[in-house]
Amino acid sequence: MQGVSRNFFTLAIVYAICGMVLGLSMAMTHDHTQMPTHAHIMVLGWVMSAVFAFFYHLVPAARASRLASVHFWLAAVSGIALVVGLFIMLGGNASIEPVVAVASMAFFASMLLFAWIALTAIWKSDNVVATRPATAV
Ligand code: HEM
Ligand code: HEM
Repeated sequence: MQGVSRNFFTLAIVYAICGMVLGLSMAMTHDHTQMPTHAHIMVLGWVMSAVFAFFYHLVPAARASRLASVHFWLAAVSGIALVVGLFIMLGGNASIEPVVAVASMAFFASMLLFAWIALTAIWKSDNVVATRPATAV
């Protein structure tokens, strides 16, 4: 794994650790106020970033696109702003809501960008999906 795949997988691991720490703290304190934050860190963060990592790893045509790193940075910055903003908002600071709203729209934009990158890559006639290298006989 390298390049944008490795970046996404590293980000996924960071989300998983932070999200589980938050989940454990919710369980231990019996205070589930931050449930939506935990849920989004786990699925929007850990699961989606891991899916992106494996997609880019398996589809070299998508990885080769210059837009792939734009997708990584847009998804990383907006996703982190979204969950950190949500954490602050649910912690009782409603004034952060515009940040959460902008971050949500930016994260949606990153998904549209991924849709473009992924669909153009997989529908290209010369698309090559990584497989085990062919062995000489
Ligand atoms: C250390 C491991 C984890 C702990 C201690 C933990 C703890 C919790 C707690 C206490 C809740 C709140 C339940 C409620 O109020 O009804 C919750 C909800 C949730 N957790 Fe976790 N969690 C863990 C791992 C995960 C993982 C690995 C995922 C997904 C990949 C995940 C996804 C979710 C989701 C989506 C919800 C919201 C469920 C709903 O909408 O009712 N959690 N978790
Ligand atoms: C544009 C970004 C997103 C916005 C604005 C958004 C907004 C919301 C809202 C308003 C809720 C209801 C929360 C509540 O009732 O307390 C929710 C719940 C949920 N969302 Fe999202 N969401 C977004 C992206 C995602 C993505 C990408 C995923 C999964 C990959 C996801 C998974 C979930 C789950 C599992 C729940 C149920 C857990 C809960 O009730 O907190 N969301 N989301």
